[in-house]
Amino acid sequence: MDKTAAKARIEELSKQLEQHNYNYYVLDNPTISDFDFDKLLEELIALEKQFPEFLNAESPSQRVGGQITKEFKSVKHKYPMLSLSNSYSTEDMEDFDRRVCEGLGMKGNDLFAQEIEYVCELKFDGLSIGLTYVDGKLQYAVTRGDGVQGDDVTTNVKTIKSIPLKLRENFPKEFEIRGEIFFPRKVFDAINKEREDIGEPPLANPRNAASGTMKMQDSAVVAKRNLDCFLYHMLGENVPHQKHYENILAAKSWGFKTSEHTKVCSGIQEVLKFIEHWDKERHNLPFEIDGIVIKVNDYKQQNNLGFTAKSPRWAIAYKFKAEQVSTELQSISYQVGRTGAITPVANLKPVLLAGTTVKRASLHNADIIEKLDVRIGDFVYVEKGGEIIPKIIGVDLSKRPADSKTIYIDACPECGTKLVRHEDEAAHYCPNEMGCAPQVKGKIEHFVARKGMNIDSLGGETIAQLYEVGLIKNIADLYDLKKEQLLPLERMAEKSADNLIEGIEASKKVPFERVLFAIGIRHVGETTAKKISKKVKSIKVLLNSTKEELLAIDEVGEIIAVSIAEHFSNPNNKNIVDRLIAKGLQFELSEEQQQGGSDKLKDLSIVISGVFEKFSRDQYKEMIELHGGKNSSSISKKTSYVLAGDNMGPEKLKKAESLGVKIINEDEFLELIK
Ligand code: IVH
Repeated sequence: MDKTAAKARIEELSKQLEQHNYNYYVLDNPTISDFDFDKLLEELIALEKQFPEFLNAESPSQRVGGQITKEFKSVKHKYPMLSLSNSYSTEDMEDFDRRVCEGLGMKGNDLFAQEIEYVCELKFDGLSIGLTYVDGKLQYAVTRGDGVQGDDVTTNVKTIKSIPLKLRENFPKEFEIRGEIFFPRKVFDAINKEREDIGEPPLANPRNAASGTMKMQDSAVVAKRNLDCFLYHMLGENVPHQKHYENILAAKSWGFKTSEHTKVCSGIQEVLKFIEHWDKERHNLPFEIDGIVIKVNDYKQQNNLGFTAKSPRWAIAYKFKAEQVSTELQSISYQVGRTGAITPVANLKPVLLAGTTVKRASLHNADIIEKLDVRIGDFVYVEKGGEIIPKIIGVDLSKRPADSKTIYIDACPECGTKLVRHEDEAAHYCPNEMGCAPQVKGKIEHFVARKGMNIDSLGGETIAQLYEVGLIKNIADLYDLKKEQLLPLERMAEKSADNLIEGIEASKKVPFERVLFAIGIRHVGETTAKKISKKVKSIKVLLNSTKEELLAIDEVGEIIAVSIAEHFSNPNNKNIVDRLIAKGLQFELSEEQQQGGSDKLKDLSIVISGVFEKFSRDQYKEMIELHGGKNSSSISKKTSYVLAGDNMGPEKLKKAESLGVKIINEDEFLELIK
């Protein structure tokens, strides 16, 4: 075949194959046998191999996959990828409608007379994806990520046959369309059947499996997984219509798969009917949905309503009630946290719920146990909502065995101390703060954690070991440790002992705000500790502060103020702080912090990229400001330094290098401001 003929045949085959894909995957109406389809595809692949100059990125042969992605590039979304606020009841929906009407300036009688035009859609349970098309060709496919930037998964997305690589007709020059990638039930079941046959563990649930598949390195494996995708949201400056529904119809005509169940509803009552219908019918769909999405149809109205920080005011998700099953409660275990709070956990007879096997459920606290009147031996209803750990929501009294045992605890399961209950709190506490093993170990773990003293040479196992041999009973004991004491311990090599001592020594430089967080005052989190340290400047002032003075600090309310006072009124805690001060830990702001920093970074513009070890990104940002520098988010000729941690984005690296911007690491930065 000569070149001209090959080019024509490749074009013809591409066109035919794409039409067959569309018939099969979008219209669900195949007009060719699988065998004949495969023959055409093989012919195309062979021709493209012979004439690689005619292979293009939109060819149907690309859907077979084969490209390997070692690392997914991070891409900034042109439009942030927001999520929706949730609602769970008719009242929630009526409130939403009222907010919409009021937001659009309707008042009094108007409010009830006026019917907003809503679009109701199924809420597909998969992972969201943003597809950008330029001149009718798929340019990138990006996952949600953190909403600001996501991962470029274009290679994998190209293997999803219902996503057009090339659009059909009359499309805008450039736009983004968003939708949900998911596993149809049948496909998911078939994958699991196959895994079972070859002795591999089944995939837990379709949504996680879809996310996992999108992040696979080998696109040929992704291609075989037969994912699907519905599109539901169009963005861009040149979208053809002023109403959401019309744009979705247009998207359909360009070749996208949109849901046939989407419906325009006039007023909230019609919306509620739609919800009611699908709450019953959802199990008959060939894919999973977890709710309904309701959107104001008219873009002008959408614009008037605008957005909150997290989600649009013109749309809401109605979430169906979570799925439930009943199973036997076999026993209860109790966990003791670092603050002494006791959390009961139910051990259940394993049962399948919404795609996963459930063995344990949280019971939260004694109040809930009492309220539900759950007993060991009972059949309980277990529900899985948004949270990862399922919860017990009721008891099937008709199945209660005669010998069911009430659940009662009055002594700490770890140390036997009689439990107490603080006023207005549902949880039981073990008051043996200094002697109850999980509390002591938990407090030390909290102290050395990354956000605290950041002693990463001291992990949970070593803490347990040191505690068990009696070398540490509290956080202050750490600073008395000697290498000679460590060496005789099991699994403690000379190097680990050195690292441990060095790590502890280095922690003496950790700034006051983090020390204040690390000592573990109940209710004093990272941010609160920061605010307090800035205000009081030294522990001495904090120790002498009255409740009123504490309350005057931003972020400090009654609960925190009382908690601080209680903490230091305990002589044990006071003694620990005294010992830590004597050992040289930072219990006041450094001179620089006191004076509001330095001007060592004056006139410098710094871009932070990557993940850091010593301090968090936010802490580096603060340091930059403290020393007179400017934080900037993108690299330009004006950038003075890029402060780079691990995994700095490859694009940023390239840009910095091409502009000759100096890249410095954490240590170099800290040296700069020393
Ligand atoms: S619209 C600003 N429509 O649910 C509009 N989302 O919590 C954003 N989802 O992030 C999304 N089906 O991943 C929209 N028909 C639908 C949807 C849908 C599923 C997902 C999507 C979104 C999340 C919202």
